[in-house]
Amino acid sequence: MTSDKRAPGVRISDLSVVYRTPAGELPAVRGIDLELVPGTITGVVGESGSGKSTLALSLLNAVQPPGRISAGSVEIDGLGDVVALGGDDLRRARGRHVGYVFQAAQSSLNPLKTVGKQLLDLGRSHDVEDLPGLVKEARSLLDRMGMDGARVLDSHQHELSGGMRQRVGIMLALVLNAHLVVLDEPTTALDMITQATILRIIREVHEERGLTTLVITHDLGVVAEVADRLAVMYGGRVVEQGPTREVLGDPRHPYTRGLLQAIPRLVGDIDEARALPGRPPTLGTIPADGCVFRERCAVRMDVCETGEPPVLTQGPRIVACHAADMGPEAVTEPAKERQTVTAGVGDTPTTGEEQA
Ligand SMILES: Nc1ncnc2c1ncn2[C@@H]1O[C@H](COP(=O)(O)OP(=O)(O)OP(=O)(O)O)[C@@H](O)[C@H]1O
Ligand code: SF4
Ligand SMILES: [Mg+2]
Repeated sequence: MTSDKRAPGVRISDLSVVYRTPAGELPAVRGIDLELVPGTITGVVGESGSGKSTLALSLLNAVQPPGRISAGSVEIDGLGDVVALGGDDLRRARGRHVGYVFQAAQSSLNPLKTVGKQLLDLGRSHDVEDLPGLVKEARSLLDRMGMDGARVLDSHQHELSGGMRQRVGIMLALVLNAHLVVLDEPTTALDMITQATILRIIREVHEERGLTTLVITHDLGVVAEVADRLAVMYGGRVVEQGPTREVLGDPRHPYTRGLLQAIPRLVGDIDEARALPGRPPTLGTIPADGCVFRERCAVRMDVCETGEPPVLTQGPRIVACHAADMGPEAVTEPAKERQTVTAGVGDTPTTGEEQA
């Protein structure tokens, strides 16, 4: 972590994004509050469809129709609320203030131009005066990521492997020297060894330049490796957030526990690893009321069907769950096993809700 003053803070408040569908406008991201602390790397993790990329796009006010930001704000130090920005202000902000690799970066290179030509286009569109300096910087970043930088700059997209294109995307996000960097699945196409190298370089560049960085991934291992802080998303919500080590060492949301238990290399024993049952919801099946995770939650209670989970702040941790303030056993054991009085079908449980 660094205390460099250039690293901007970001405050995402009550952010909601909807997509228009035949069934009407449905929320992909709902009521998200998240702060990116200056100089830190925040990891956002969650299964496919949980809204991670939609959140990343919102940071640049880049959600495209049929989507739109329907509520909330994204305050970036030095820029203001990007949700209210438009036109040239927004164009200048992207690249210069906010460097980004979108998830589709691998296919977003222009097939007709070399990487070097596209780099010069990027420089010109941001009024970079020292273009030779920009090329030198690009070459050095590519070299650091284990490639022959000069050769990559002379190459067209089809001459590069998926993993090489992914590294070109990371270079383009870093080369303009923005101090807020958003990386959406930066290492998905890479083998384990290259992934480890790239994560190390992301961390090094982050520290050298004094950045605020957001890394989005479905891979908890990536987050464990690189992030200072962690936000766990499910069904368009952030269900748990806090310092990475604390969240991974002592998960307090049943979903975070489930994610961790599914990973043999984090659990430490392949026999102990247990896949989370069921599937994540899609836009059409995210419940409108109650807890979005309840269909797969082993410890759900009646209140979870209709009651919005309370957002509880516990020191540096934030957890959105009805069971989170009932002690550690409440998020590991089903309510009925915690009850001293056996409740019949349809009876009101005797613990949990009374305390909620
Ligand atoms: N252009 C679109 N039109 C309609 N629905 C969309 C669109 N883009 C995303 N969605 C829906 O919004 C939800 C969130 O999608 P998003 O891409 O943000 O998830 P994600 O967490 O990044 O998933 P992945 O891990 O697969 O990249 C999903 O249900 C997805 O189907
Ligand atoms: S206990 Fe209830 S609120 Fe908490 S994750 Fe399970 S279903 Fe959701
Ligand atoms: Mg995504």
